Formats: sequence, C-alpha cells, structure tokens
Amino acid sequence: MSEKIRQLLSEEEVDRKIREIGEQISKDYEGKCVHLICVLKGGVFFTCELAKRITVPVSMDFMSVSSYGDDTSSSGVVRIVKDLDETIEGKDVLIVEDIIDSGRTLSHLIEILKQRNPKSLRLCTLLDKPERRVKDVKVDYVCFNIPDEFVVGYGLDYAQKYRNLPYIGVVEL
Ligand code: IMP
Ligand code: MG
Repeated sequence: MSEKIRQLLSEEEVDRKIREIGEQISKDYEGKCVHLICVLKGGVFFTCELAKRITVPVSMDFMSVSSYGDDTSSSGVVRIVKDLDETIEGKDVLIVEDIIDSGRTLSHLIEILKQRNPKSLRLCTLLDKPERRVKDVKVDYVCFNIPDEFVVGYGLDYAQKYRNLPYIGVVEL
C-alpha cells in the first residue's frame, strides 16, 4: 500500500452537509414518501447517513450497475449487475450516488429508470466533479463540488480499498 491519502473534506464537514441536504429533501418531499435508490457499492455509506436525516417516510432499494469501459473512463453503456427488488412505478424516486464524474453512468441509468414510470425521479450525489462532465445530467442535490482529483472514502474506493474512511481524501500515488 504505497499511496497516501490527503484529507479533502473532514468527517464533520461531510456530516454537517448531509444533515443540511437531508433537511432540504424533507422539506421538498413534505407529505410524500421518498423512495431512495442506492447505487452500490459507493453510494451505500452516503445513503445510510442521508436516510437517517430525512424526516418524511423513507423506503430504500439497491441497485448495482457496471459501466463498460477502462479503469479511468466509463463508456456510459450500463449493465445492470443487481436490479432493484421492487417496482418504482408511481413512486417518488431519489437516486443516491457517491460521485458524478463524466455523467455517463448516471445519464444511462436515468434513462433506464424513467422507462419504469416513477411518479418523479430526482438525483442526489455526495460529490460532483463538474469539470469532468461529458454527458449533461440534471443533479437535484449536491453535497460538494470538488476539483478533478481522484478521491476515496465515505464509500468511494481505489482498487476496492478505502471505502470505510469516515472522511473524503485525495489519493496521492
Ligand atoms: P461517470 O460519471 O460515468 O464517469 O462515473 C462515475 C463513477 O465513476 C462513480 O460512480 C464512481 O464509481 C467512479 N468514480 C469517478 N470518480 C471517482 C473518484 O474520484 N473516486 C472513486 N470513484 C470515482
Ligand atoms: Mg458509483
């Protein structure tokens, strides 16, 4: 393990921001139930913390997708590795993602989910790298915009490591 991790966002900063976004979502969905779709594996830590801060009724489901492409860039052709357990028809769906990079994966996933007739479909991400965007994606809730650096922690991995870090760090090789 030769890489070093430089802290970019502290545990406190991340937790504070998730509370804020949770409050905002609770206001926006007042009188409704929100159906969270966690995009595995990276979205799992964020989804759990966010769900705890939402005060309207929450249901959750999980999906795992893999994007064809090489290690550093996704092609945007998404293969469903694990599909949702329940239907999303007629539900107020909120996709919860760890990070939006090129936007390819999410724009494809949104197209797939739209065809299943949810009542509404929104997107929430912990991190966004807007500089890297190739495909336009409407992101409804963003916790942090970050520069174009490879980050880990809070669910995000580098070769499957560091997902469990309680903060967000930059990998320095
Ligand atoms: P894209 O938006 O289709 O380019 O791909 C987004 C996916 O690439 C995310 O869901 C992550 O799995 C992965 N990814 C992009 N940037 C990073 C990063 O900085 N650290 C860890 N994973 C990343
Ligand atoms: Mg992801």
